[in-house]
Amino acid sequence: MNDTISSPDDSFRQEISQHREIAGHPIFLLAETDSTNTDALRFGREGGATGTVVIAHHQTQGRGRLGKQWISHGECGLYFSLLLRPALEPADLPKITLGAGVALCRAVSRICAIEPSIKWPNDLLVSGRKCGGILTETEFIAGHSIVVVGIGINISTPMSAFPRDIQDKTTTLARHAPTIMENRLPLLTAILGEIDIMMEKMENGGFEEILTEWKKRDYTAGKQLTWVTTRGKAVSGISLGPDREGLLHIRDDQGVVHEVLSGDIRLQAP
Ligand code: BTN
Repeated sequence: MNDTISSPDDSFRQEISQHREIAGHPIFLLAETDSTNTDALRFGREGGATGTVVIAHHQTQGRGRLGKQWISHGECGLYFSLLLRPALEPADLPKITLGAGVALCRAVSRICAIEPSIKWPNDLLVSGRKCGGILTETEFIAGHSIVVVGIGINISTPMSAFPRDIQDKTTTLARHAPTIMENRLPLLTAILGEIDIMMEKMENGGFEEILTEWKKRDYTAGKQLTWVTTRGKAVSGISLGPDREGLLHIRDDQGVVHEVLSGDIRLQAP
């Protein structure tokens, strides 16, 4: 990992660089990296401490779920990864993405005074358009799991930075919360604090409570959608929401209920 580089013209970078930790989390601040998830996973393999955050101003190979690219233009977004060593069974690890989604919504709601929703499993939506995403990656080393929760939020990214076919499904926080540019550090602090609350709850068997809150934010519940499986098969149906394990239930047009763990969920454009 390259170490901290500061730029005289960026207030956010300067603001963060003054902190060795944020909300009790040790911070590695990078000017540029390929992907903070890659860095955090490597750090985890090397024995790095749980709770460590890798944050970058620019990612050259930011990635999202299902091998998608995550547009990470310098200074236009919040791009960070949190290394965790959760006290959870492997089967419970997918729940972390849902917990992180609730944490993101709570933080955005508090700092930006807007009410985001979530599209299963990992999309942060504002007014029905994607504004952020979560990429949770897990590795098992010597019988223990390391989990990296990578979060990307479009803060002020120009629409022209996104591929044309997703521009009408994409938004930025700046479009909805004019004060966000001054509030990037409070937003990061709030997200980390909320994730800590979620993790503690989950580690103490409190996922049901998180799920209840998640369902209040569920953008797809009751909507017609298409589930594209990882093998590329398209199944259309209605979302019944996630179950206690975090799997999304979809009732297809023949009435069969599918329990979805992976794949892409596509809705019609708002
Ligand atoms: C998605 O919407 O599919 C998830 C996007 C996650 C993007 C973040 S940005 C920080 C971290 N580093 C990455 O390469 N990806 C995540």
